[in-house]
Amino acid sequence: MFAELLIPAYSSHGARGEAVEPRMDDHIERVRHCLSMRTDEKGIIDMVTKSTASLVQTPISLPPENLKTPVEGYGRNLLYQDPDYGFVMVAMVWPPEVGTPVHDHGTWGVVGVNEGRLNVTNYSRDDDGSDPERADLSKLDTISAGEGMAAHVLPPDEDIHKVWNPTAKRAVSIHTYGESVNVCNVFDLDEGTIEQRRLSYTV
Ligand SMILES: [Fe+2]
Repeated sequence: MFAELLIPAYSSHGARGEAVEPRMDDHIERVRHCLSMRTDEKGIIDMVTKSTASLVQTPISLPPENLKTPVEGYGRNLLYQDPDYGFVMVAMVWPPEVGTPVHDHGTWGVVGVNEGRLNVTNYSRDDDGSDPERADLSKLDTISAGEGMAAHVLPPDEDIHKVWNPTAKRAVSIHTYGESVNVCNVFDLDEGTIEQRRLSYTV
């Protein structure tokens, strides 16, 4: 059922048949192997974080069609959807000083910084989560992640965050999510409200 909705988007060969980035294939195989062996999300996150750190240890090269940005905001470029396990890989392209609102994903995710620097601020939820339209959040730590660094999100307690590029240069991050994130909650800290927002990939 799930597999029917998913199509591989990433090709390991360019237009002239040359290998583009074999480390992407290695990462995909490591994640597939992990998901075939285990179901505990903590164990999955540990493995995917290690694999992502290895993937971006030295920057991977991506073709221009995987590095698009919209007119405003940041680019979400779909690299791969797994036909069997449903995980996706996305290249996010962050123009200078561009970032997200405070949001969640509802699935596990790992980010590796491939180019530039990103800041991530995490939040905890102080209410009981029973009201789908309201939330009380507390700001936790802020991480400043440079090239080669990896971090994760894991619902329900480590899911709410915001990401931004604090520099004057482009940043590129490589994300692996447990499933395609097509909708997320956006949190307004001042009003204490939650808004559901649909997400799309940059075309
Ligand atoms: Fe996020």
